Amino acid sequence: MPTLAVIGAQWGDEGKGKLVDYLTAGADFVVRYQGGNNAGHTLVVNGVKTKLSLVPSGILHPRSRCLLAAGVVINPAVLIDEIAMLRKAGTTVEPERLVIDREAHLILDYHIAIDIAREESKGANKIGTTGRGIGPCYEDRAERSGIRFGELLALPELRKKLEQTIDLKNRYLKLVLGSSVQIDLEAQWRAIEIFARTLCPYVGNVSLELHHAILADKRIVFEGAQGTLLDQCFGTVPFVTSSSTIAGAVCTGSGIGPRAVNHVLGVTKAYSTRVGSGPFPTELSDEVGDNMRSRGDEYGTVTRRPRRCGWFDAVAMKRSARLNGLDSLAITKLDVLSGLPELKIAIRYTLDGKELEDVPALIHEFDRIKVEYVTMQGWEEDISHAKKLHELPAAARLYLSTISEILGVPISIVSVGPDRESTLFLKGAAFIKNFLE
Ligand code: GDP
Ligand code: IMO
Ligand code: MG
Repeated sequence: MPTLAVIGAQWGDEGKGKLVDYLTAGADFVVRYQGGNNAGHTLVVNGVKTKLSLVPSGILHPRSRCLLAAGVVINPAVLIDEIAMLRKAGTTVEPERLVIDREAHLILDYHIAIDIAREESKGANKIGTTGRGIGPCYEDRAERSGIRFGELLALPELRKKLEQTIDLKNRYLKLVLGSSVQIDLEAQWRAIEIFARTLCPYVGNVSLELHHAILADKRIVFEGAQGTLLDQCFGTVPFVTSSSTIAGAVCTGSGIGPRAVNHVLGVTKAYSTRVGSGPFPTELSDEVGDNMRSRGDEYGTVTRRPRRCGWFDAVAMKRSARLNGLDSLAITKLDVLSGLPELKIAIRYTLDGKELEDVPALIHEFDRIKVEYVTMQGWEEDISHAKKLHELPAAARLYLSTISEILGVPISIVSVGPDRESTLFLKGAAFIKNFLE
């Protein structure tokens, strides 16, 4: 039962898309199970870039079937555009290749309007969301009033529900959020009719399909979106997303049991980044951070906002290893660190002079923590053409092994460039190797 979960171990944008594309070479199925088009996953194959926010990152491999499970929140207009973009580039995206779970929720215009109006009303305290309606859509799911893909198959019933929903959302926008934006029922309905015509052929039952796939020993990659430190419960609340981003969400988002996940691969950059507001203990607001941003092209895939950059945070990563039960690590963007004379790894947080065993739970405590680092020697060499671990400079190998030792998690993959080919395997990556064979 070879199944592999690819989880963002930091604050997102760790390079999950690149790795999922790489690992799909061995996969029959690739499954997105949470988040929505707040995600931006970049794949580079032979220099050609593809950016995906909803379609699973396995789509460029013709053999794999890509599933959007019930835990994903889907803006149908964005999905239709993404399918068109892929087709234009020559990729087949027919219903034999892409399935949308009938229980996945739709992001509609009012979710986006509420997301934006709510951020505006928060002023300086805004979360810095992507403005894609993610939070409001998950709220409706929790409140039991959301609209699901299966409902596109029963339009007369959906029409009645939409009338009531839009009336309520418009009142909320105006009276609670003080927004001048009002959603036009007929315009939203016309859009829904198009969504139904275009996407109904893709609607299926992902949980059931996965059940059969698991029984048949098919190879499955579960593609996480966002990152562990953005988890709605265990992240740096309230500066988080609105879904569960940790490995447990593979099960709750896909509709499979916990024993069906065989290997949890945590993806982390060789340093840290974060986009949007919220605590970032190892942030570098100096030329070293600027250097990481420009060398690593650290600008959001979705919003093009500059990403905040900082040192590798082993304290936060230990939490991430624990929350996800990480079996191995994929360390990405090691090439970006070339040329820095020294590198730091955060190894300890103290609060009021006391060492913390874990990351603080309360946001105001982050302002008072002190971070202690180990300093490591950097390397000058361009490593972006390395194909084997031994081709990396000794300082780079020591940097990697130090991270692995501190976290107590073996490294299975190192990435030294955006392209599919710029990927190194480490000895001991037995599970991943078998998966790809
Ligand atoms: P995701 O959201 O986790 O899939 O990551 P994003 O695609 O948002 O951001 C990662 C960025 O880093 C993308 O532009 C990738 O093409 C790029 N990338 C991934 N791995 C590497 C690497 O090892 N080195 C470099 N230089 N870039 C990489
Ligand atoms: P991928 O899958 C990085 C961040 C936003 C904001 C917070 C809440 O590409 O790694 P939301 O729109 O989800 O309500 O925003 O979460 N965020 C991400 N940051 N990568 C992502 O996805 C993100 N998805 C959301 O910037 O701080
Ligand atoms: Mg991204």
